[in-house]
Amino acid sequence: MVHGQFPQLRLRRLRSSPILRDLVRETDLHPSRFILPLFVRPGQGVRQEIRSMPGQFQLSPDTLIEEIGQAADLGIRAFILFGIPASKDAIGSSAWEDHGIIQESLRRCRSNFGNSVLLITDECFCEYTDHGHCGVLQERRGTWDVDNDATLENLVRQCVSHAQAGADMVAPSGMMDGMVRAIRRGLDDAGFSHIPIMSYAAKYASAFYGPFRDAAESPPQFGDRSSYQMDPANQDEAIREVALDLDEGADLVMVKPALAYLDIIRRVKDEFRVPVAAYNVSGEYAMVRAAAAAGWIDERRITLEILTSIRRAGADMILTYHARQAAQWLR
Ligand code: PBG
Repeated sequence: MVHGQFPQLRLRRLRSSPILRDLVRETDLHPSRFILPLFVRPGQGVRQEIRSMPGQFQLSPDTLIEEIGQAADLGIRAFILFGIPASKDAIGSSAWEDHGIIQESLRRCRSNFGNSVLLITDECFCEYTDHGHCGVLQERRGTWDVDNDATLENLVRQCVSHAQAGADMVAPSGMMDGMVRAIRRGLDDAGFSHIPIMSYAAKYASAFYGPFRDAAESPPQFGDRSSYQMDPANQDEAIREVALDLDEGADLVMVKPALAYLDIIRRVKDEFRVPVAAYNVSGEYAMVRAAAAAGWIDERRITLEILTSIRRAGADMILTYHARQAAQWLR
């Protein structure tokens, strides 16, 4: 692969000026590749900073509008919404109520912004169930676990309800088997065949989600998510998950988390050549913010380096809490 030899070949020649370095740069970073996650709860004038995620807030529908407007001014045009409902129950029924928190937020955003922003909705039940698991529970031989197929029916209700309220794209994150096929059928039957599905296809059971559970008030009340999310040790299994979701009709596939899983992003991109999203999750964000606050790292350089590395690994788009700041730095 190397053409030529030192001393006639000197790779430093193309690094000798900023203009040259810009010309030969292989990976671009632009706010059009960012998706900003936002947390919304009922109320008015709410702007509650999340303790473990400095710079991120729980918002109410009115402050959500302000937040999206400001981010849009920085060039961020895609958003994923997480809801913290007024009430929780065993099955998460507030997830598909017509006047649920996400449904109300979507209507307000739609009437405010029209089609100038892309609104994605996270489709899962951990924020809506009183036990904090990602679906309906069933007991088998003395242990409780998520009932896959019963959860699928509710997932379809949730997605259709979000589509009716104005979602541009749905993003199922519960790692249920068959979720993409069920949602595709449900959306098509309800007249939403034009709405794409971004599947959290390879989502690992990760400690990097810690701060998110504060933000979304969604920690499991017992046990963990290892019976539905993937084992961090597995790579071939991610390929199987992605293949299945694409067969079931996923338009975009996601790898999550991002930074400790760059190898998975690269393999998914190489094997399937489809649009890939990576989720730069809450724990990754919190670590950078904490080290920066302590004065131990250069926050701007670290953040842009991390986001560039995720793009370089093969991600077309990045869900990231750094989106606003990064967009400002990239101006
Ligand atoms: C589940 C969901 C989670 C995240 C996104 N969707 C949490 C979980 O699986 O426990 C994590 C995102 C992050 O950590 O930033 N609805």
